[in-house]
Amino acid sequence: MSTLGNSTNIFWQECQVGKIDRQKLLNQKGCVVWITGLSGSGKSTLACSLSKELHSRGKLSYVLDGDNLRHGLNKDLCFKPEDRAENIRRTGEVAKLFADAGLICLASLISPYRKDRDMCRAMMNDSNFIEVFMNMPLELCEERDPKGLYKLARAGKIKGFTGIDDPYEPPLNCEMEIKQIDGVCPAPIAMAGQVVSYLKGRGFLES
Ligand SMILES: Nc1ncnc2c1ncn2[C@@H]1O[C@H](COP(=O)(O)OP(=O)(O)O)[C@@H](O)[C@H]1O
Ligand SMILES: [Mg+2]
Repeated sequence: MSTLGNSTNIFWQECQVGKIDRQKLLNQKGCVVWITGLSGSGKSTLACSLSKELHSRGKLSYVLDGDNLRHGLNKDLCFKPEDRAENIRRTGEVAKLFADAGLICLASLISPYRKDRDMCRAMMNDSNFIEVFMNMPLELCEERDPKGLYKLARAGKIKGFTGIDDPYEPPLNCEMEIKQIDGVCPAPIAMAGQVVSYLKGRGFLES
């Protein structure tokens, strides 16, 4: 008998086709690119641009975007700390499955708490988890404010908004950092190019 979490009598089912076989089929290595940063820092922009760049190179990726996941899988969750943690845990588990499927999974979520991101890293082989920090100043994000959320948060109409009245804990040991150069944010295609170079250099774009 086996007990796992809240379940009993659970056994792992092995199949003949495994991750290595799927990677050979796709000629790439499954991994998770975890994009973290403030709202408005460009996470979704990077994820979409990166997905396009990879697609044009014949590489299969899939974007798990925080906002999109809250339309379905995570629609029962709000923004209190426990729900933020559960949001990240579920996304991490799904990202792990996508990576096991052989895909380059692009997860773009604020994921403000270090321990939640580290929990996702701990779920998988460390070298398959590539944490990308969108290191953009709050002033830039607030100036962009494409959804008008900072304005609402400043006016007290949204409570617990990351960067305003809820903390963002920057990574201490991330694989990559995207930041402004001489006060200018690199164009989306240039940000994507940095990540493509990283993936290429570490052999993820071949099986
Ligand atoms: N590299 C960039 N250069 C210029 N504008 C950008 C860049 N990245 C994002 N933006 C703009 O900033 C805003 C926020 O980007 P978005 O990707 O939605 O952020 P997030 O997903 O982190 O909330 C959008 O209006 C987007 O067009
Ligand atoms: Mg976004």
